[in-house]
Amino acid sequence: MAVLLPLSAPKRYLGVVLVAVIILHYFLTIVNDDYSRISSFSNIGEQLRTGEQYDELISLDNNLRSFPNVTKANATFVLLARNSDLPGVVNSIQSVEDRFNRIHNYSWVLLNEEPFTDDFKERVTVLTRASISFGLIPREHWFQPDWIDEERARQGRQKMMAQRIIYGGSVSYRNMCRFNSGFFFQHELLQQYRYYWRIEPDVKFFCDLDYDPFLYMQEHEKVYSFTISLFEWEPTIPTLWQTTKGGFLSWVTPTQLSPAVSFIDFIAEYPQYVENHNAMDFLSNDGGKSYNLCHFWSNFEIADMDFWRTEAYTAYFNYLEQKGGFYYERWGDAPVHSIAAALFARRDQIHFFRDIGYRHDPFQHCPSGEQWTKGRCSCDPTDTFDYTANSCLKKFEKLFA
Ligand SMILES: *[C@@H]1O[C@H](CO)[C@@H](O)[C@H](O)[C@H]1NC(C)=O
Ligand SMILES: *[C@@H]1O[C@H](CO)[C@@H](O)[C@H](O)[C@H]1NC(C)=O
Ligand SMILES: *[C@@H]1O[C@H](CO)[C@@H](O)[C@H](O)[C@H]1NC(C)=O
Repeated sequence: MAVLLPLSAPKRYLGVVLVAVIILHYFLTIVNDDYSRISSFSNIGEQLRTGEQYDELISLDNNLRSFPNVTKANATFVLLARNSDLPGVVNSIQSVEDRFNRIHNYSWVLLNEEPFTDDFKERVTVLTRASISFGLIPREHWFQPDWIDEERARQGRQKMMAQRIIYGGSVSYRNMCRFNSGFFFQHELLQQYRYYWRIEPDVKFFCDLDYDPFLYMQEHEKVYSFTISLFEWEPTIPTLWQTTKGGFLSWVTPTQLSPAVSFIDFIAEYPQYVENHNAMDFLSNDGGKSYNLCHFWSNFEIADMDFWRTEAYTAYFNYLEQKGGFYYERWGDAPVHSIAAALFARRDQIHFFRDIGYRHDPFQHCPSGEQWTKGRCSCDPTDTFDYTANSCLKKFEKLFA
């Protein structure tokens, strides 16, 4: 008797909607190519494949959980931050974990010139299941040494402030550059590691990585790597500089040419440290007479700390340190690291991670083609620093042409 009852009103309504949807589907399939592609079976297959890939990751994940003997490099992430950087630190760690480390479980070392607060530690620890340690930087590795002539340093800062050089008046920025140049790899929490991946607050990784870049470094004997290289630093107020006497070069002279000038002195004193198959042509257009300002952007680095621990680099850093240029001028760790890597290592020991999509404001590197698809990159492949006017990538690639 139930069969004979008419459909209740809501059910009838549902039937009408269903019929309408089916008609609409056929209509759209006929008139609209895009629609039929989106809804076709091959596309649904594609989505299943995505699911399979996800399963693969999960099983790799489980493997790591149950077989800690799975090959892993002797490596860690390193992040230098202040308590006030917390929001940016959270963004960066989340990005690294989502795109890479939730599978690989490499540890984190966070360093600060003052103790991290409990709130900071709690907010950061929750982001990863890898081990995470919080270190305090020894005073002598951070603060301006007493033997620096403060009057001379102050004059240097004032001159740069007058020239509107970014961080020109900042002592803490100089502390950081010096620490990153010569001290971070001496920190007790980093002694147990060889490779590191430097992360800064507020950076973003755009792509999945289906391999381990640390193992890549190890297997290919790389000592230094980058994603962005710059021909010149972005002045904070470009039009002011155009109207300044002498233009760009006189502006950069004190801060950026000096490391190379010091280096010329250094190689005269220590020629034995320079590698034969070095990357001098990345740094210089005239065989070493002058520095062309090319450097690797060191806010991203995957590198070998044992390279910074060598006799050559130790001598180089001590030489620079003794000249006081980290304070009298404003030597950055980027040119210092770049010059050392380019001259004390073989050129083929420096690697460009083309497949790592990375952003640190205001620049980004985005992979293209198959690397972009494979990495499920969220960046716009046409928005990439690689071959823009300020990039040194062409110069780097020419080393291997
Ligand atoms: C890791 O250990 C597990 C369990 O002991 C073993 O079955 C597996 O073959 C090992 N894997 C490697 C790469 O050594
Ligand atoms: C990740 O590393 C931590 C600390 O080293 C360890 O306790 C944890 O079991 C690891 N997790 C996985 C999934 O391997
Ligand atoms: C990792 O590398 C550091 C630096 O070279 C070394 O002291 C340490 O013994 C290495 N650890 C392992 C497990 O190989």
